[in-house]
Amino acid sequence: MVLLRCLYGVYKSCRRRNIGCIRAGFCSGSVFRRSSEPQPQLPTRESNSRPRRTVCQLVLDHFDFQYREELGEQWESSRNVLLNPQCWQHGVLLNRYSDLTGLHTHLKSLGHCSLLPQPRASSVHGLLQCFIPEQAVRLPTQRHRPGWLKQYYLLNAASLLPVLALGLRDGEKVLDLCSAPGGKALALLQTASPGLLHCNEVEESRFEWLLKTLESYIPLSVRDTVTVTNVDGRTIGSSQPDKYDKVLVDAPCSNDRSWLYTPGDQQGALWLKERAQLPHLQKELLCSALSTVRPGGLVVYSTCTFSRAENQSVVEEVLTSCSGVELVDLDEDLIGSLSKHFTFARLRPQLGYLVVPEQGRTWGPMFVCRLRRIY
Ligand SMILES: C[S@@+](CC[C@H](N)C(=O)[O-])C[C@H]1O[C@@H](n2cnc3c(N)ncnc32)[C@H](O)[C@@H]1O
Repeated sequence: MVLLRCLYGVYKSCRRRNIGCIRAGFCSGSVFRRSSEPQPQLPTRESNSRPRRTVCQLVLDHFDFQYREELGEQWESSRNVLLNPQCWQHGVLLNRYSDLTGLHTHLKSLGHCSLLPQPRASSVHGLLQCFIPEQAVRLPTQRHRPGWLKQYYLLNAASLLPVLALGLRDGEKVLDLCSAPGGKALALLQTASPGLLHCNEVEESRFEWLLKTLESYIPLSVRDTVTVTNVDGRTIGSSQPDKYDKVLVDAPCSNDRSWLYTPGDQQGALWLKERAQLPHLQKELLCSALSTVRPGGLVVYSTCTFSRAENQSVVEEVLTSCSGVELVDLDEDLIGSLSKHFTFARLRPQLGYLVVPEQGRTWGPMFVCRLRRIY
């Protein structure tokens, strides 16, 4: 019944946008081509000269109170980064399905270096390539152009950690439970060629955004392996038990970086009230993921907040309340190679990893934890 509802959800959305495709869920009518289309000029560097944003004092006071206690000195250095958007760095995730001629050289000339060692099909990051700038420069966002696949996706490089932690292999069935706007789904498709990638997003407008992202980056040839649905992720555990090899739960959370710039105290107060409800929703989503993954399969839980209540405490409660689940540490090699670029907080107990922003390496916050369903 729920499956029917979810297919109907996709169908409704496709109908509204005059799209006749249910399985792939994104524009079946568009034709993607690789090289016959005119290519855009190589992107130029942009400084971070965006309009000044105003900090919401109420939210900052709340963070100061909570994070001084939870993170100690590390909060002070992260706080300085969050309060200074001019210093924020932007990672450049390359799209292996697009024509990248000249882009590597160009990025290097703009002062970017590779986040990861040379891509190898056998490594945990597969063919994924992400370039990061030494300074706070930002490439322009590429515009959607029918018939042409975008070359790169700008992101906080720490958001690749959950994707890499999943260690996707060719042919595996993977679910991205909370998928919009689709950055991690794209990154997953850069690491390997899954047998099935199921992207789900509950919010209608964000679902539309997800479809658009997939359409802008993924060619028709890959489309058949991608399913997109618009349902509450908490229902998937019971509607599709034991189905996936791997599940990513990139949970709705207090997005600390952006919530700090909430417009107005009234909105800030509303958000702080909503914040208290998040751990319950996060636990339910994580439990749903653990039901839909097959025994032996992996679930990665991630958030972009520093908050202990939404990170370690969620994991702790799920480990206590769900039988047959164990914590799986991230690969030492992966953490070792990323330590060059990311600063990790010292978490006690060590129930996952938390990337914290620092001057010159402004990535994060990003919490990641990996679990295995044993039976
Ligand atoms: C942190 S964002 C995901 C970002 C995305 N993974 C990416 O990398 O682009 C969390 C998403 O979860 C969605 N969400 C919230 N509640 C949900 C639910 N019950 N089921 C599925 N998705 C949900 C939110 O609308 C939001 O788009």
